[in-house]
Amino acid sequence: MIKKLLLVCFSLMLIAAFSATGNAADYMGAKKCKACHLKQYKSWQKTSMATSFENLKPGIKAEEKKKAGLDPEKDYTADPDCVRCHTTGYGKPGGFTSLAETPKLINVQCEGCHGPGGDFRMIMKKNKKFKLADAKTAGLLVPTEAENNCMECHGPDSPFNEKVDPKYKFEIKERLENTHKHFPLKYKH
Ligand code: HEC
Ligand code: HEC
Ligand code: HEC
Ligand code: HEC
Repeated sequence: MIKKLLLVCFSLMLIAAFSATGNAADYMGAKKCKACHLKQYKSWQKTSMATSFENLKPGIKAEEKKKAGLDPEKDYTADPDCVRCHTTGYGKPGGFTSLAETPKLINVQCEGCHGPGGDFRMIMKKNKKFKLADAKTAGLLVPTEAENNCMECHGPDSPFNEKVDPKYKFEIKERLENTHKHFPLKYKH
């Protein structure tokens, strides 16, 4: 009986391990991209996205939080309804889970817009003239007006939306420009 129970437990653990990895690529964190994309990294680092987790701490941006109906003294760093937009890959396989478990995935990093890099970065590494279609199949997103995931976080369910203050309005053209400075690519993909 005990043997049987142990066997069941063991199989369940195996299934859990496999479904946790799944087929989707893992999130790497911006440091991995920095190795090959230093200019974009440095430019992104100057945006508010690079420190957006900080804003979930008590006492930070108190006036803005009050205006949005939030409690400025509350610690929101473990609140799923905040971290889902202030981290990278929350709720997705290999993405942010908690500050303790995945500290390198706090803030809105490269992969928040470009997709999990575990697989596509290997394609970029193997061949500098890689085919864009191959990188996309491996999970790369190159956001445009037509094809983007911006509204996952910049939509009306953000506490900081245009109803709270018009400055939070999301003008896609202007925002695509301001993600980081854009530099011409060397190769055609
Ligand atoms: C080992 C080096 C390497 C790493 C690591 C790497 N890349 Fe790249 N990536 C490249 C090269 C090479 C190109 C093509 C550059 C060119 O044509 O000038 C490229 C191109 C790109 C492009 C442009 C694709 C297109 O055709 O429009 C994006 C976006 C990109 N990388 C994002 C990332 C992100 C995000 C990460 C981190 C998860 C990453 N890369 C990691 C080497 C790398
Ligand atoms: C995972 C959530 C998430 C996604 C996806 C996302 N953003 Fe954001 N973005 C944020 C957060 C959060 C901030 C504000 C950071 C802060 O002040 O805490 C922000 C801020 C910005 C800023 C202001 C940067 C600055 O310093 O001025 C720009 C520009 C921007 N996002 C563009 C985009 C675009 C374009 C897309 C889609 C291609 C996008 N974002 C997708 C969460 C996201
Ligand atoms: C649906 C996504 C989303 C959720 C959920 C979310 N945020 Fe944000 N947050 C954003 C975006 C996007 C911005 C940037 C808005 C802009 O600059 O246009 C932002 C900006 C902020 C700012 C900076 C405002 C400023 O004026 O500088 C603070 C502080 C903040 N969020 C705290 C929180 C807290 C606390 C929670 C949870 C109660 C939370 N956010 C939940 C998307 C979200
Ligand atoms: C807020 C969304 C967002 C974030 C975060 C972001 N990017 Fe981009 N990235 C874009 C957009 C939009 C483009 C331009 C797509 C186009 O029109 O070709 C782009 C283009 C690129 C390109 C192509 C060359 C260029 O300069 O335009 C590379 C390489 C790249 N990103 C790497 C990165 C790296 C590395 C990071 C993190 C340090 C990062 N990106 C973070 C949205 C983002």
